[in-house]
Amino acid sequence: MTTQTPDLSHLWMPFTANRSFKAAPRLLASAKGVYYKSTDGRQILDGCAGLWCVNAGHCRDEIVQAIATQAATLDYAPSFQMGHPLAFETATAVAALMPKGMQRIFFTNSGSESVDTALKIALAYHRANGQPQRTRLIGRERGYHGVGFGGISVGGISPNRKAFSNSLIPNVDHLPHTHNLEQNAFSKGQPAWGAHLADELERIVALHDASTIAAVIVEPMAGSTGVLIPPKGYLERLREITSKHGILLIFDEVITGFGRLGANTASDYFGVTPDVITMAKGISNAAVPAGAVAVTNSLYDTVVNASENGIELFHGYTYSGHPMAMAAIGATLALYQSEGIFDNARKLSPAFEAAAHALNGLPNVIDVRNLGIVAGVELAPRENAPGARAAEVFQRCYDAGVLVRYTGDTIALSPPLIVNEEQINTLFDVLGQAISQTA
Ligand SMILES: Cc1ncc(COP(=O)(O)O)c(C=O)c1O
Repeated sequence: MTTQTPDLSHLWMPFTANRSFKAAPRLLASAKGVYYKSTDGRQILDGCAGLWCVNAGHCRDEIVQAIATQAATLDYAPSFQMGHPLAFETATAVAALMPKGMQRIFFTNSGSESVDTALKIALAYHRANGQPQRTRLIGRERGYHGVGFGGISVGGISPNRKAFSNSLIPNVDHLPHTHNLEQNAFSKGQPAWGAHLADELERIVALHDASTIAAVIVEPMAGSTGVLIPPKGYLERLREITSKHGILLIFDEVITGFGRLGANTASDYFGVTPDVITMAKGISNAAVPAGAVAVTNSLYDTVVNASENGIELFHGYTYSGHPMAMAAIGATLALYQSEGIFDNARKLSPAFEAAAHALNGLPNVIDVRNLGIVAGVELAPRENAPGARAAEVFQRCYDAGVLVRYTGDTIALSPPLIVNEEQINTLFDVLGQAISQTA
């Protein structure tokens, strides 16, 4: 069924080339399982779980029903100085999936809000802990932490920062990124080279003194910047150094949380426990905007007990713990468990890895990297036109019925975790053909 294209002029689209999109729009009409249907009536295999978020597949009946029931029962309840039971029950359900000792949950509505919440919590913690001078934040080059002012300040993607560069928050440093094709091209899973890059944190500590540093924030596996897999030993080293200096370690798990690597969290997967975890996306299967921040019980105690009475943390959103989000999260987490969706991801990882690395040798493919149900296929950039080759491959895939994502010249794949082997093969076959057809 083809539906009529609406007037496209009024909507200012996010992170989109508005003019070229509106000249040749790609519009989705419906979705079920691992497939979208476009408005021109074609079936599109979702190779990126929407935007790394629809981990249980689209329009799952259990989630739809939970949202509908909640909307008719309690559509909204104030989140300040008031509560509703489902918010507490949902926090308990999220806490059950967090690493041991990290069972305190703050609700937000997005990854960006989770990041800015985490950064503010880090500052509030040190103040409550008698070290208010610890205000410096350390991010990483090529990091993506959403689009709030805190997130872009600790983030390391220059186009996201450029227009706002004079207005970023002060006292921020960046670790080097870990991407190195000379050392690590075509690594399967975690690359062997690069743990020593975490030692750069010692250099930053030596420069500023640990007593001025509040927190380090990194994505344990970076997705949006083009799939960067942490070198073996790197996260462990970051944990060691931050602990030694009393610096909080924040893992931004907006992509890696809820099964993407075949475990509850990347923290679980790597066996490295941070002090703060940010989440969004897969927490609600993206059916309702939702996010959360998990902190250690002791961090929570420090902040809450430091205040004699009254509000302990002057932070929160009208929609923190929104009933619809809580219903979606509850139904999503139940589905993840009842269908063993994270186990499915773990079991499929070797097949996913094999299918991804089969692209090695195709024209212009300069790297394939993977972890869990994530793969990045990096193409050589065209001279004077970075990103153009990947954009063309993306369009070819879409025309052939497969949705992928691209950042720069890296194609990223992260399908719903309910995908099967046949669908994985289709995904990479179509991508391979598109790459072969693109000069
Ligand atoms: C690691 C990470 N942090 C934060 C965000 C921002 O999330 P949102 O777009 O929900 O604000 C993203 C989004 O892709 C992300 O990948």
